[in-house]
Amino acid sequence: MLAAVLAAALWWRRNPSACPYSQRFWVEAPHPLITRERLRDVLAPRSGEAILELGPGTGYYSLELAGWVAPDGRIELFDIQQEMLDHVMRRAAERGVANLSPTRGDAASLPYPDSSVDAVVLTTVLGEIADRRSAMAEIARVLRPGGRLVVGELFGDPHFTTPAEVERLGAEAGLVLESRSGPWFGSFSRLVKPG
Ligand SMILES: C[S@@+](CC[C@H](N)C(=O)[O-])C[C@H]1O[C@@H](n2cnc3c(N)ncnc32)[C@H](O)[C@@H]1O
Repeated sequence: MLAAVLAAALWWRRNPSACPYSQRFWVEAPHPLITRERLRDVLAPRSGEAILELGPGTGYYSLELAGWVAPDGRIELFDIQQEMLDHVMRRAAERGVANLSPTRGDAASLPYPDSSVDAVVLTTVLGEIADRRSAMAEIARVLRPGGRLVVGELFGDPHFTTPAEVERLGAEAGLVLESRSGPWFGSFSRLVKPG
């Protein structure tokens, strides 16, 4: 049994693909180390900002993000699975949160204008993206100069991306590592777009 689970995890790691909506219990579980409080500290969101959350899943961070930039700020939600977006929007409607806009697509090609967002948040998503280089280049394109990218990663996720790999992928896209919060096995990296 254990061997089967390990084999499945290894296969998944070598074949980047989105965590299916049917297995959403993984993303609804508590996220130790990469907590909402730590995300807030690292991201330092301000009221009025436009923030892109790439791969929100069922919205573990989304409603808090929306609250942090309220009342005039907005959160763009972007996910490859419509079911994930619908799930977050249902939760937002139930709680009367209105400053979220969902868009479906692949992170390798973002439908937002150049320099149009203040920050991008990407938590346990990078390793699922088949074309990570293109996704990073797209993130760098849509960030305004001085904008920041926060990447959360947690060991145990079959698609765990090491902090060194996050830094390397960011550097290839012209993003500079500014700080890291948390231990190697559960951290948020903050990168900035120079300028
Ligand atoms: C493991 S879940 C993480 C969800 C959430 N960020 C969290 O930490 O709870 C990864 C999410 O990224 C999305 N995703 C995977 N590949 C993607 C891609 N190429 N483009 C956009 N979203 C993608 C998945 O559909 C899923 O919602």
